[in-house]
Amino acid sequence: MSKVRHFLGLDAFEPDELRRIVDGASALKRAGRSAARPLVGQTLAMIFEQPSTRTRISFDVAMTQLGGRAIPLAPHEMQLGRGETISDTARVISRYVDAIVLRTDSHDALENLAAAANVPVINGLTDRTHPCQLLADMLTFEEHRGAIAGRTIAWLGDGNNMAATWIQAAAQFGFELRIGCPPELAPDAEVVAWAQARGAHIVVTDDAAAALADADCVVTDTWVSLADDSDKNVDHLRPYQVNEAAMARAAPDAIFMHCLPAKRGQEVTDGVMEAPFSVVFDEAENRLHAQKGILLWCMAPDALGR
Ligand code: CP
Ligand code: NVA
Repeated sequence: MSKVRHFLGLDAFEPDELRRIVDGASALKRAGRSAARPLVGQTLAMIFEQPSTRTRISFDVAMTQLGGRAIPLAPHEMQLGRGETISDTARVISRYVDAIVLRTDSHDALENLAAAANVPVINGLTDRTHPCQLLADMLTFEEHRGAIAGRTIAWLGDGNNMAATWIQAAAQFGFELRIGCPPELAPDAEVVAWAQARGAHIVVTDDAAAALADADCVVTDTWVSLADDSDKNVDHLRPYQVNEAAMARAAPDAIFMHCLPAKRGQEVTDGVMEAPFSVVFDEAENRLHAQKGILLWCMAPDALGR
């Protein structure tokens, strides 16, 4: 890992370092508003090339609660939108701020930003991965069901950026992941191979029932992602909807997770979203706590605890 503490993907970490961030996030959540403010005087630039509710607001609030401040930016408000290069932008912004969050539909752009920046760069979602979300998801599962190591998670739907990040998490946090998806929307084979080479138990199947059998948690995500064409044909995803019948195939105490935003009636029914086993709003809240852990890991690691 480079000297600058970038948070670009779960695959760049040793498992114990990710565990340290999740446990630190949990401690920060318990401390609430009485927690220390280790980021006094520090500034986070947040560049959102695409819309965001959770990521943008939770990073802003996290910086405020840790004593710093955040500047939300859109490319059209910056010279980036008129052709200034991402690397020149990185070198300039690094002279002003202490860390940068980027949401982009080009993972390569994220890597280019990180290569040129002298301050930590945080992945706020790309076409390939969404690691901030997964740390919030690990925190959420463990709050509801205890240690995730050794448990079984079923993913139904598109093999998208969230699926890829769940695959990386399976390797790093030691759970079995079964992905039920149509073959043409299977997750990135390189990511699956990466996880399997680290001993992860990953199953990719077009049989939704097989993916769901006795799972401790069922996860899905929108069928049309930010990086997809809006006219994407979702017909072949219909057998992978998370509805009451799908949840009945999972373990009796299975929870339901979704990073949100959800398209109710498409990848998930209203009934599942509103059921007592749905923890989707806890997940959304935990973005705040998980990202406090990430911000401290990047900007003030001694404040994160061991
Ligand atoms: N889950 C998530 O990243 O949501 P936003 O797109 O609202 O940030
Ligand atoms: N797969 C979704 C996740 C949104 C948080 C997307 O990329 O739009």
